[in-house]
Amino acid sequence: MLEYYEEIKSRIVARDEEIKNILATLDAGKHLILEGPPGTTKSTILRTVTDVANIPFYIVEGNVDLTPSKLVGHFNPSKVMADDYRREYFEKGPLTRAMEGGILYIEEFNRVPADTANVLITAVEEGELAIPRYGVVKAAPEFRVVCAQNPFDDVGTMRVSRAIYDRFCRISLGYQKELEEREIVRAKTGATDERLVRIAVRVARETRRHREIKQGASVRGAMDMVAIAEELRRGLTRLSGGKPPDDELEVLRPAMLSAMSGKIWLDETTERTPEAILDEILRMVLSQPEFQEDDPGPNDPDGGDDGADEGGSRNPGSPEATESDEGRS
Ligand SMILES: Nc1ncnc2c1ncn2[C@@H]1O[C@H](COP(=O)(O)OP(=O)(O)O)[C@@H](O)[C@H]1O
Ligand SMILES: [Mg+2]
Repeated sequence: MLEYYEEIKSRIVARDEEIKNILATLDAGKHLILEGPPGTTKSTILRTVTDVANIPFYIVEGNVDLTPSKLVGHFNPSKVMADDYRREYFEKGPLTRAMEGGILYIEEFNRVPADTANVLITAVEEGELAIPRYGVVKAAPEFRVVCAQNPFDDVGTMRVSRAIYDRFCRISLGYQKELEEREIVRAKTGATDERLVRIAVRVARETRRHREIKQGASVRGAMDMVAIAEELRRGLTRLSGGKPPDDELEVLRPAMLSAMSGKIWLDETTERTPEAILDEILRMVLSQPEFQEDDPGPNDPDGGDDGADEGGSRNPGSPEATESDEGRS
């Protein structure tokens, strides 16, 4: 699928290496685990690849209720009751459909119960799956399983077994650089207020470094903040007869709280609220020299590179801080 690289690239900001590596892995006939915190382009890359290459794509949300039969399919009980087990009464699940020629994408894979994961092992290992009373489903050459997971997820997760890791390849995706995140936010929101974009991206990035936050906001948090702030500013301007709010905090603060307070996971030891911590982050961001209103700001002296390394990370357990290690904690 490397022949689709240019077209895929035209829809995704940066990620050149990762995209090439994902394509090569799939081209080699391998199944894949994508590991990275939320909002790190995992779904977007797969969606874009399958769209551009015109490959059927089946998405499944991994959770404890994902039973083997939800993945494989089941006989329609009322038809079987009324008649008998007939092949045409079998309702194919996403795994069976993907085996017929497509990609099965399982999100939050580390939440999938072990017996369901074992069915996957059989399908990728044997290249076929025996379904009682239906028959043997053989995997088409295009069949691939791609699993996505957040290595820092600790909500109802199972340990993904060695047996799975041994049969899958693994590519890890970390947070993108600040310049890239701004570009994503601009592209997705259509925002033209550069100051707003920069503030929202910086706030999201600071949540990833904060010592009281276990997992900070993704680029989605910044996108939401920008979209809400623009609506709010329009609304407030209209309500006051065309006069925009004097204080940008009237717009930034509620937009930030609405966009981000539900997206950050606080450390268990903190007694503060997400709102209090976010307020502190916004104040801190606005006091940075490049965001002082009368200062035009240095134009990215560091090329907008991943600012996380200045002065070391304040949060060694955070995804940002461990982005370059193998992501397993
Ligand atoms: N590199 C990127 N280029 C363009 N859009 C991106 C990029 N990374 C993330 N996004 C956007 O951010 C949002 C979250 O990305 P997504 O792929 O769903 O993340 P994940 O599946 O890793 O949680 C989506 O709206 C997506 O379009
Ligand atoms: Mg996703």
